[in-house]
Amino acid sequence: MNRINIGIIGLGTIGAGVVKLIHKNSQVILQKSGIKLNIKKAADIDKRKKEELMLSNTVFTTNANDVISDPEIDIIVELIGGTTKANEFIINGIKAGKHIVTANKALLSQTGNKIFNTAYKYNKFIGFEASVAGGVPILKSIRESLLPNRITKIYGILNGTTNFILTKMEKDNLEFKDALLLAQKLGFAEANPEYDIKGTDSAHKLQILASFAFNTDVKFKDIYFEGIDKITLDDLKYIHSLGYKVKLLSIAKLDLRHKIYECRVHPTMIHTSNPLSTVSQEYNAILIDGDAVGEQIYYGKGAGAFPTASAVVSDIIDIAKKILNNNEKIFDRSFQISDDLTMKKFGDISSRYYLRFKTCDKPGVLAKISGILGKNNISLSSVLQKETGQNIVPIVMLTHISKESDIQRAIKIIDKLDIIKSKTNIIRIEDNM
Ligand code: HSE
Repeated sequence: MNRINIGIIGLGTIGAGVVKLIHKNSQVILQKSGIKLNIKKAADIDKRKKEELMLSNTVFTTNANDVISDPEIDIIVELIGGTTKANEFIINGIKAGKHIVTANKALLSQTGNKIFNTAYKYNKFIGFEASVAGGVPILKSIRESLLPNRITKIYGILNGTTNFILTKMEKDNLEFKDALLLAQKLGFAEANPEYDIKGTDSAHKLQILASFAFNTDVKFKDIYFEGIDKITLDDLKYIHSLGYKVKLLSIAKLDLRHKIYECRVHPTMIHTSNPLSTVSQEYNAILIDGDAVGEQIYYGKGAGAFPTASAVVSDIIDIAKKILNNNEKIFDRSFQISDDLTMKKFGDISSRYYLRFKTCDKPGVLAKISGILGKNNISLSSVLQKETGQNIVPIVMLTHISKESDIQRAIKIIDKLDIIKSKTNIIRIEDNM
C-alpha cells in the first residue's frame, strides 16, 4: 500500500465534499489505485468545520500556513476560491515543494500562465480538472484522450446555476430572482452570484477550455461575455414558439485557415432538435469537434459538492501515481504554447439574431425599424407581432446571418427612436453547430 499525505485549504462546499468523499470511498480508491490517501491537515477559518467533518485536533487548523509548511504533505488542495489568498497559497505551496490541486477557475483564467510556469520551474504538477464542468472529465479528455486532434469547436453549457435558473423559469414559470434563490440554496451558485448570472464564471471556464483545446494563450480580458439577467419570461415564450431554447453558451471556434479564433459567452438560442437544448437543471454539457474524432458531447453535473469533489480526488490520485512513479519530468502546455493564433474581435463575429423591440402600436413602426436594419446590411428571416390590445407591443424579429458590428450600430440607432419604449433585447442564434 502506498500512502500519500494531502493537505486541504478551504473546507467550504467542495472542500467538505472532498473530505467526505475520501472518507466514504477510501477503500474503493485503495482497491483501484493501490493508494491510501491520508488527509494530514485541513485548514479553514471557520472552527465549526472541525466538528462538522469530524476532524481531529492534529488534522484541523485555522492557519493555512500549517498546511504549506508541513514537510510530510505531498499535495496541497486549494479550495478557498478567490484570486488573492488562493494565489499566495498556491505559489507558496509550489515553492515549498508541494504539488497542487485546485478548482479555482477565476484564478487560473486570470493568472494561470504564472502558476503553470512556476509549477514547471519547480517540477510540480497542477491538477485543475474540477475548475471546468465539475464532475465532467472534460479537461482530461482534451489534454489526454483527444491530444492528437486539432480541436476547432467548443460549445459549452458550463454554468450549472444559470442552466438551473433558465430551466426553472421555463418549466415552472418562476421569476428569475426566485429561481436564483433556489440555486443558491442547493449550493452550486458562486459566493458572488453575479459571477454566475453575468456570465463571468462561464467566461473563466471558457478561457481554460479554449487555451488547452487550441493550445494558445487566450486572454480572459479579450473574451466577450454577457449573462442571462436580461432574459424575460416573455422572451422564453416567444423563443419556444419559434422552436428554440435559450442556453448560456460558451462558444470557441477556430478558423485554422486564417489562424483566427473566437471566444464568447452569451445567451444563445439553439434549436430544440440540437441535443444541447435538452440539457437542463444544473447539468453541464460540452460539444467538441476534433479533426480525428469528429463531434463528441460530454454531459454531467457541473457543480455541487460531490461531482466537483470527484474531479478533485481524481486529480489527487493522478498526481499521487506520478509521485510514486518518481516524478517523471513534467511536460506541460505552459512549456510550448503556439502563439500564431489571434482572437477575432467580437464586432467581427457573424450570427443570426433574435431582436425583441418594445414599441408603440402605430402606423409606420415596422417600416421604420426594418428600414434601419436594411440600411445596416441586416436581412430579416421572420417577424412576429401578437395582438395584445395594448398600446405598447413587443415585436420579435429573427435575422439572417449578420455581422455583430452591424447589429450593434443598427440597434443603437433604433433604441434612440421615440417609438421604442425600452432597450432592445438581443439574443444570438447558433444554427450550424
Ligand atoms: N457556480 C458554478 C456553477 C459552480 O453554477 O456552475 C461550478 O463551477
